[in-house]
Amino acid sequence: MLSLPTPLLFLFVFLLLHSFACAVDVSHDGRAITIDGKRRVLLSGSIHYPRSTAEMWPDLIGKAKEGGLDAIETYVFWDVHEPARRQYNFAGNLDLVRFLKTVQDAGLYAVLRIGPYVCAEWTYGGFPVWLHNLPGVELRTANDVYMNEMKNFTSLIVNMMKQESLFASQGGPIILAQIENEYGNVMSAYGDAGKAYIDWCANMAVSQNIGVPWIMCQQSDAPQPMINTCNGWYCDQFTPNSPDSPKMWTENWTGWFKNWGGPDPHRTAEDVAFAVARFFQTGGAFQNYYMYHGGTNFGRTAGGPYITTSYDYDAPLDEYGNLNQPKWGHLKELHAMLHSVESTLTNGNITNVDLGNSVFATVYATPEQSTCFLGNTNATSDATFVFEGKQFTVPAWSVSILPDCQNEGYNTAKVNAQTSVMVKEPNKAESQPESLRWTWRPEMADEQLVLGKGHVAAHRLVDQKDAANDASDYLWYMTSVHLKDDDPIWSDNMTLRVNCTGQILHAYVNGKYLGSQWAKYGVFNYVFEQDVKLNRGNNLIALLSVTIGLQNYGPMFDLVQNGIPGPVEIEGRKGDERVIKDLSGHLWSYKVGLHGISHKLFSVDSDSASASNWQSQALPINRTMTWYKTTFKAPLGTDPVVVDLQGLGKGEAWVNGKSIGRYWPSYDAGLDGCSSDPCDYRGPYDNNKCVSKCGQPTQRWYHVPRSFMEEDVNTLVLFEEFGGNPSLVNFRTVTVGTVCADAYEKKTLELACQGRPISAVKFASFGDPQGACGSFSKGNCEGSKDAVSILQNACVGKQSCSIDVSENTFGSTTCGSITKRLAVEVTF
Ligand code: GAL
Repeated sequence: MLSLPTPLLFLFVFLLLHSFACAVDVSHDGRAITIDGKRRVLLSGSIHYPRSTAEMWPDLIGKAKEGGLDAIETYVFWDVHEPARRQYNFAGNLDLVRFLKTVQDAGLYAVLRIGPYVCAEWTYGGFPVWLHNLPGVELRTANDVYMNEMKNFTSLIVNMMKQESLFASQGGPIILAQIENEYGNVMSAYGDAGKAYIDWCANMAVSQNIGVPWIMCQQSDAPQPMINTCNGWYCDQFTPNSPDSPKMWTENWTGWFKNWGGPDPHRTAEDVAFAVARFFQTGGAFQNYYMYHGGTNFGRTAGGPYITTSYDYDAPLDEYGNLNQPKWGHLKELHAMLHSVESTLTNGNITNVDLGNSVFATVYATPEQSTCFLGNTNATSDATFVFEGKQFTVPAWSVSILPDCQNEGYNTAKVNAQTSVMVKEPNKAESQPESLRWTWRPEMADEQLVLGKGHVAAHRLVDQKDAANDASDYLWYMTSVHLKDDDPIWSDNMTLRVNCTGQILHAYVNGKYLGSQWAKYGVFNYVFEQDVKLNRGNNLIALLSVTIGLQNYGPMFDLVQNGIPGPVEIEGRKGDERVIKDLSGHLWSYKVGLHGISHKLFSVDSDSASASNWQSQALPINRTMTWYKTTFKAPLGTDPVVVDLQGLGKGEAWVNGKSIGRYWPSYDAGLDGCSSDPCDYRGPYDNNKCVSKCGQPTQRWYHVPRSFMEEDVNTLVLFEEFGGNPSLVNFRTVTVGTVCADAYEKKTLELACQGRPISAVKFASFGDPQGACGSFSKGNCEGSKDAVSILQNACVGKQSCSIDVSENTFGSTTCGSITKRLAVEVTF
């Protein structure tokens, strides 16, 4: 055997290893992105790593791959990575490198949206609040202090990626990177400095030398070589600002986010598919679902203000990672269709034909193949017409894709994928809620309520961001008012009036609770006004101001005030006469945070002294500012876990010391906006369409990731701010209850339920069945064979089954020329 000298052997091994990390070449022209010589139709989906846990990533990314995606898009969240200036955190679910390597291991590409302003319904749009508190800083504009920090963080991330060879140019998964985020939407508010800033962003990005293209979304004047991209529910009308830029869609909103007091958003599978198909009909090259998995706003990461803890988004994967069916499956079918004609779409000659009545045909032709799109953008009328000698019917608001220009391979309005109805099953490990033993303790606020003790003081009312520096949602504003006997304010009717900007105020006078008030979503300024009894001599006013996520969007969003801007006044009324004492310029003392939070009452290993202060006697109900604690057994199995917090007011919850987010089940969604009519996929979608759950708690269920729990005993701690009743709290698993399908002839119906066997077929009919999932009935015609027994034979006892939907399988019908359908309902 040939033996090599040691240095040569090293060189050989080095070259061998290196050859595995071959550079991947990413280039583009006005038509398509080319990866390693192949022109691509790129389908991507957003998954934000901190909105799930590292343990969930392989499953989520695997489901994205199985759903037919090529790439995963994520923002990078500056505030959590650099919580204090030059102190970094990339641990646990903040392990960006591990996330990207998981994407790479699954064989997918990545789109890295560094921002580092990201919006994303994330608190303060992802900016760390210390940035706002740097002397001389102005955010998102040509300001040296800001640009220095932005460059520092961007370079840190880029270098981290380079170190790990994560750019495609190094053989890694990252094919595109983004700088800034939708600056074009707000740029005019920054005047000339805005333009100078965006030019600087482009130069700074280019100077990072990442070897893959940079994008800027919603930036119609993006400096070259930045590719400007589109965000929205529809982007078929979009054209980039350079003939060399491919048509790219960075955010196809698959639904919408939810705010406290808002209903549940829902965007239909048909409409999402329609938007995607129209985008590729009109020359699209890259499309990304925002979100593909929305996930959970753990801790205090929800922005807004007033964004809920759930960031489900009605995405193809639900908050917990389950398939949101039929959306996931209907899009999977579309992805397969688009990929099957990738070469024709990216190379073919394009011919557009306007067929009238909002019907458009597009032919992509290469010498080998022609592929046609027939798009009907009419919101109400189906269209029947002759195209290239053949008759076609395209339902209203839908697109048919004909891979060979002859036969319909996919229509966006014809959903063949199964619908899964999810259920929340009781915890089989113990019988909750009865088994939960609660202890409690009051939040200790005497230092504030009785002594007015803070850690800083000022002769003015300060902004909560400036004072709290985001260390907590809570800030005490305390002042004393000395009223002499002869003060003109004395009267029988005295009022305390506080002008607030958000979002909750709890007022105390001389140690006694006076009242609370909170903002409504979208109207964050309000006036708290309550009658008050004051003492002659000294009076202590203690105001607890609470934020619920910092503003994340809009021009100068970073300057939106939080807390109590004032004035704070006492008013005395004698008949028509009013005497006002303005306390705004008094000496105010400030205290950030709550005693219980700084003493880590939520932690499992809180010291024994404080542990002994938990009482099991006389569990209070509807008591404000109260800590509750219990232990529980984790539900058996692997299905995702939620905790039902119905009965509680508002606060924060921790499992084994890890925050599962803010809770506010007592906040019902408003009564307006929901309709009793069925949701119609036709016509333009916006976030007010097809909403549900009006009048119900905005969020009753809170995700407890499996990795937060131990197999045996777990601790749940609640900090209850408004007052509530924990006696109904219970843990459940989220799983598929019923599966339905209404599939079209000539398709293959796939039924599956997350690894559980199908136990019974409740309904099956092939022909023209009527009704919807849960209320299917037979129509006027049916196959000659017994559909129920065919389904039973094929599916019962199995974890998944597939059925050819045809007369071959179900026997001939007397339905005539209509397209027959198979309606099915199975249980588990
Ligand atoms: C976009 C923004 C995203 C997200 C989205 C709404 O304007 O770029 O970060 O906020 O809106 O979910």
